[in-house]
This record gives sequence, C-alpha cells and structure tokens, in this order.
Amino acid sequence: MHFHSNMISYLNKNIANIVLFTVLIFLLIGTSFTTIPKSKLTIEEKVDSLLSLMTLDEKIGQMTQVRHFYDISEDDISNKFIGSVIHTQGPIPGETVDDWQSKFRDLQNQALSTRLGIPLLFGVDAVHGQNTFEGATIFPHNIGMGASGNPDMVMKSAEITAIEMHATGLNWTFSPCVAIPYNEKWGRVYEAFSESTPLTCELTYAAVKGYQSDFNTSHSVLATAKHFIGDGATDYGIEGGNTSLSAEEINNRLLPPYKAAVDAGVGAIMVSFNSVLGSNMHAHKALITDTLKRGMGFDGIVLTDWKGFSRFGGINVINAGVDMVMAVDGDMHYFQSKLKESVIQDSVSMERINDAVKRILRQKYRMGLFDNPFPDSSLSIKLGCDEHRKIAKQAVRESLVLLKNENKTLPLKKETKKIVVVGEHANNSGLQSGGWTVNWRGTAKNYKGATTILEGIQRLSYGDVVYDTLADGLVRDADIAIIVVGENPYVEFFGDIGDGTGEFTLDLKKEHKDYIDSYVDIGIPTVVILISGRPMIITDELNKTDAFVVGWLPGSEGDGFAEVLFGDYNFTGKLPHSWPANLNQYEGKYGPNYWNIDANPLFQFGYGLAY
Ligand code: BGC
Repeated sequence: MHFHSNMISYLNKNIANIVLFTVLIFLLIGTSFTTIPKSKLTIEEKVDSLLSLMTLDEKIGQMTQVRHFYDISEDDISNKFIGSVIHTQGPIPGETVDDWQSKFRDLQNQALSTRLGIPLLFGVDAVHGQNTFEGATIFPHNIGMGASGNPDMVMKSAEITAIEMHATGLNWTFSPCVAIPYNEKWGRVYEAFSESTPLTCELTYAAVKGYQSDFNTSHSVLATAKHFIGDGATDYGIEGGNTSLSAEEINNRLLPPYKAAVDAGVGAIMVSFNSVLGSNMHAHKALITDTLKRGMGFDGIVLTDWKGFSRFGGINVINAGVDMVMAVDGDMHYFQSKLKESVIQDSVSMERINDAVKRILRQKYRMGLFDNPFPDSSLSIKLGCDEHRKIAKQAVRESLVLLKNENKTLPLKKETKKIVVVGEHANNSGLQSGGWTVNWRGTAKNYKGATTILEGIQRLSYGDVVYDTLADGLVRDADIAIIVVGENPYVEFFGDIGDGTGEFTLDLKKEHKDYIDSYVDIGIPTVVILISGRPMIITDELNKTDAFVVGWLPGSEGDGFAEVLFGDYNFTGKLPHSWPANLNQYEGKYGPNYWNIDANPLFQFGYGLAY
C-alpha cells in the first residue's frame, strides 16, 4: 500500500517534470532565445510547484521537528520525511567544529536522499550566542542587551551568533525572546530585553535583522520571536501559567514586539506554554490565525513549544494555526499518525495542511537552503574568534548599570596598591553566564574561551589583586573591596520564585549579605557587583556600600567589567526594568507607568549613572 502510493507520487513527479520541461522549451522558443532559468521562478511559484508534488505523508513530515539522537532511529529522517531537527542539551555531536558539521551534514544528506530532497532546518536555542557549543562567543543575556539600549550592537551580536551557528552546522535559532516581563518572579526575565514595549520593539527588530541579514548572506539563519503570547505576563510570574491581562493590554503592550519582528521579516514564531484569560495559547485560533497571521500578515512558520501538540490539545493546535510541531520526547509517532488520521477523517482540512507546509517551504527557499543545505566549513575559524569576542566585550561594557557611586569610589585607580575581590561569582564564567550556557540549565564551572571578572581586574591593575572567594580570609589591609554577589544559573520554571520557599528568591543569599557586611565592617570602601537575571531586593546592601553596579548575566567576556571599573570606558547602561524596593512591590509590578500600587520603585526604568 505504502509502496503503491509512493509509486504514484513518483510517476506524478515525473509527469510534472515533463510538463515543466515542455513549458520551459516553449518559453525558450517563444521568447526569442531568452532563457528563463528555473531560478527566475518566484519563491511562491517554487513553493506551489513543490507542494503539488507532495504526498500527505511528506507534508506531515515537513511539519515535524524531532531531536536528533533521542527521537529518531537511523532512517527516520528519510522514512518519516522530517522537516526539522532540533539540537538541545544531551549527547553533543562531538568536541570539535568538524564533528558538529559532519553530524548535521549526515542528517542533511538523509533528508536530501528522499525523492523530493527537501532540506532540513536545524534548530537550536542560540539565545545569547551559539551557547550550546563550548568555546563559542557568549553574549550577555537579553536583559543586559536591554540595558545597553544599543540596537546596532544587538544586530551585530545576532549576526555573530548566526555565523557561529553556521560554523557548527545549525541554521535556525529560537531567539529572540520578545516577552514583556511583568513580574520578576518569572524565571525567564533575563531572556527578554525589557519591561518596556518600545525598547523591546527596537531591539527585537535589530536582533531579527542581525540573525537573518534579510537572507542576503550565506551565514543567515532563521530567527524565532517567542513565546507568543503572554509568557512574561502570567499572574504571579509563573512559567506557563495564565495571564489575566485584558485584550486591550495584550494589544498595547505585548503585541508590538511581534509586529516589529514581522516588520523585520522574522521567519518563525514560537507559541507559548501559557494561557490567555484561561484559553491555552497553543490552541488559540483567534490570536494565532486571526491576529498574527491574518491581522499582522505573518507569512512564516508558527512552531509549538516543547511537546506542544500532545500537551495542549492535539489537532486543535494545528487547527488553531500552528504549522510545525516540536514532536520531541516520544511524540513523533503520535503526532504523525494522529494528524494523518485527522486529515483522512476531515477534522483537519487539507487547506490547513497546505498552508502549514507552504510556510515551511517558503522559509527554506527564502533562506536559500535548497542551494546551500550544508554547514559552511570556511566559517569554522570564526568560532569564538577575537573579532567576535571584541563585540561581546563591548556588549558587556554597555550593559553595566551604575546605581550608586558615593565619594567617586569608581573609577578605580589602576595604581591602587591592594584590591580584594570577593565572591565565587567573581571568578566563575559559568556562574556569570546564567542558564542556556553550555548546558540547558547552565553550568557552575568555568568554560572554554571565557574570561572572568577577576581576570579582567588582574589584567588592568598595576597593584596587588587578592581573591577572597568566600570572604573567609578577610584582607584587612586592602584599599578597596570589590564584592561580586548574585544568582546561580537557572532556566525556565526552575527560576520561578513562586511563594519564595523554593531554591530561588529575590533576596540576596545570606552568604552574600555576609560577604558585604564583613568588608563593610572593616571600614574600607566597597563596590558591589550584582550578577543576576532580574532585579533583586538590594535596598539594605545599597545603603551600606559605596558603589553598586548591576552586571546582569554577561556571558563569556567577564573581563569587560574591568575596563569600565577602571574608567577606560564610561558607564552607559540604563535599567531596562524599574527596580522594586521590597518584595511587596513585586506583587503589583506592571512596568513603567503601570504601577498599580501606591509604592515607588527603588529606581525607575531608565535609571543609570555615569562618571
Ligand atoms: C522552551 C523554549 C525552547 C524550547 C526548545 C522549551 O522548553 O520554552 O524557549 O526554545 O524548549 O529547547
């Protein structure tokens, strides 16, 4: 039966080829020897012509995204006509760039061996650099980019990420996250640029342009605006919770960044785990089809989030307008068979399937994937190269926000005789980089190619720099103490604060408060650097110390801090979030102009000092 339908499609393909050939010959003669090469067909013509050759199995295959290694056996890419492969944490293709390239080249060859030879899209959460490859350039997480407020730098950083993705064989990033976080209890605040809608729009546009370069270069990758919609605006900041924002607030405050992404030509949009006013987003036809696709004119791919099909209503998800399914963790067979059965039974229309497949093919053509399906090995030397790290270091410098600087404690003098640097975050590139770094949940270790805050201070200082990691060997004769405190890496729901009884809290850790107190008690000037993915409660510490710097999650170029601390560069970063003074304020926090309680933040959105 299966063989039979394949034979028919094979014959159909040949008939179609003959027709196409005849038309071309006719055109050739009829246009007085002016040839119309196949490449002159518009993308829409190519999409239609390919779609017309596809069987239902091939169409459903295009709509399927799987994880390599976990979800598929040897021949599944070709037998199941898979459209996309996602690389996440797990067994990595190997230690070297060549290993990665050959892994994805092999998978691509499998896809190209199918009768229609439609190339694969290789997706990855490259959310602050190609952060799944140890040794890549890692940028500050988006909250730091928000603090920089510099769209040119954001665009350049995204382009570098695209180059390093290509170097490792990947061509589709699930970035940028364009959430507007309403509540810092949410564990993903750092993945978003800002609580400000206009700033997020500006940086979203820049990021999409940087990743995709309008598909004009061989290193363009497909970008994804995520998570549509309301991810950062759930009640109590719960990942995947419900948002009770009104339709008007959603329109005014959450939708504009998607409009900016669409204006920049974004190729994909990922649906969110959360519900909106009680309806789950994955099956929300009004928002996905009516608002995003019809209203905004988005003609790219709508993708589920992790296991979105099985978790959020099966074919309702497809009927709501989702085009590709992250059919991971054992979902592939269920998704493919359920969808096929539903099409045969007419509970999903062929028109819907065709729309989904066209959107996927359209992006593959736009990207030039049919002509260039393989990793570009000439980009290997670019991975983590000095030129890229220079831009990442600029991003670090521009993301730093100075909240307090009494008695001109900063800039530090390079001649200072003795500087003590305190805290485990000061000399640990894993801790300074947050989640989505080397591993999904981040790492608490130093990783390849990165530098630390301490290393930067050691490099620029002319005097002694002593490291007192846990403030247990107090350096009483130091002239100044630089104390680095903050959060440990987390991702997604792991970082949610909830009722505050879990691992994470918005208060500084007891140990970190002790580091500060120990050095304040000695009576030497103190500078505190906060490494965190969101504003934390620092009111007491701020009062005690002489200078206070917010460093966010800077990524691999930790030594960029020193260049600003020593005054080689000025502070330019501004708060991308208003900063609550106490825990109660988080309850009602609604961003700039949206404070719904009679409290003043400790600092307003946009605050930041300079020398
Ligand atoms: C996250 C997405 C991510 C996806 C693929 C999900 O759990 O919510 O942001 O892109 O996993 O790794």
